[in-house]
Amino acid sequence: MNNSRVVLQNAVKIPRDRAEELRRKLIALGVLDESLKPFEKNGYVFFPLKRLEDVRDIMNELGGELAQTLFEAKVRKSRSLKESLAERLPSNLLDKLPSSYDIIGDLILIDLGEELEDYAHEIGETLMRIHPRVKAVLVKGETTGDYRIRRVEVIAGSGGTETIHKEHGCVYKLDLRKAFFNPRLSGERLRVARQVSPGERVLDMFAGIGPFSILIARLQPSAKVVAIEINPDAYDYLLENLRLNKVEDRVKPILGDARSILESTHEEYDRVIMDLPYRSLEFLNVGLMACGRGRIIHLYTVSSSLEEASRLAMEKAAELGHVIEMGFGREVMEVAPKKSIFALDLRKLS
Ligand SMILES: C[S@@+](CC[C@H](N)C(=O)[O-])C[C@H]1O[C@@H](n2cnc3c(N)ncnc32)[C@H](O)[C@@H]1O
Repeated sequence: MNNSRVVLQNAVKIPRDRAEELRRKLIALGVLDESLKPFEKNGYVFFPLKRLEDVRDIMNELGGELAQTLFEAKVRKSRSLKESLAERLPSNLLDKLPSSYDIIGDLILIDLGEELEDYAHEIGETLMRIHPRVKAVLVKGETTGDYRIRRVEVIAGSGGTETIHKEHGCVYKLDLRKAFFNPRLSGERLRVARQVSPGERVLDMFAGIGPFSILIARLQPSAKVVAIEINPDAYDYLLENLRLNKVEDRVKPILGDARSILESTHEEYDRVIMDLPYRSLEFLNVGLMACGRGRIIHLYTVSSSLEEASRLAMEKAAELGHVIEMGFGREVMEVAPKKSIFALDLRKLS
């Protein structure tokens, strides 16, 4: 048996050639414990029983022999949200359920269209049953303002919107009502962090609660990271997360506007992360100023295609008197119909 749960249970033991007949009888009587796996040993099949009393008096009739043995528990595949709601939602609405949702720490964040509003609580309760460790289910609202904070509404559970999320071995304390965080960027964070070489100077211009900076500091301990964040609440979480991940000595946090800070410091970096997709091109002049020649900018920008995103970045750089070379680029996620966030790795040539 492997590492799965093993249970000592009453059983009926029967020669293999009569096992199928017995299995049917046990099911018909409702006494087979279907949460455990029957198994075969030395020519006998062992069936787990729910309760011994149910079969004791009919053993002769069943034709088996009572036993007590270890059974492996069946791994219960959790049902999808749609399957779980099949009998509770009108069928036309079942197709409107989102095919995915985010789990952030012990919170679930889900996008529900207006047509599902009347069923929001039911959907939330069902999600909590599917994920018993979740303390609350929140519906996604708009992400607004310079701080990029998302409106959220609690539809099930309670206990506030602060949580601790784990990603790539790091822990992030955050409150979705106070600071930006999106677990769907985790792949990007790993892709970027893996490129950082020993001793690099890295600038995280729009650091939020710190997931790029902290992962880089954990994966490349000799890198020197500067993390700028304008939202005081996000900055407080950044400070706390630096402590939680024990990288306070490798990441220098700065509270304030990246533009004014960089314009006054004139530091040069080997790698600049510009994760402010709706406005990053507006900051490209400061990003380019902070980036050393031949060094890399990871620019996140909203556009309708990868071609358009890279064309706009090249044009903007040229307008600012710089030459950049487009390296890798990819679509990170869709944010609206025909609008996505794209990641562009740009090398500053001059
Ligand atoms: C899209 S979020 C990205 C956060 C982070 N990189 C992450 O992966 O979670 C952008 C962040 O930039 C911050 N921000 C917006 N304008 C800024 C500015 N002018 N200077 C510094 N930070 C800024 C926002 O408060 C927000 O936390």
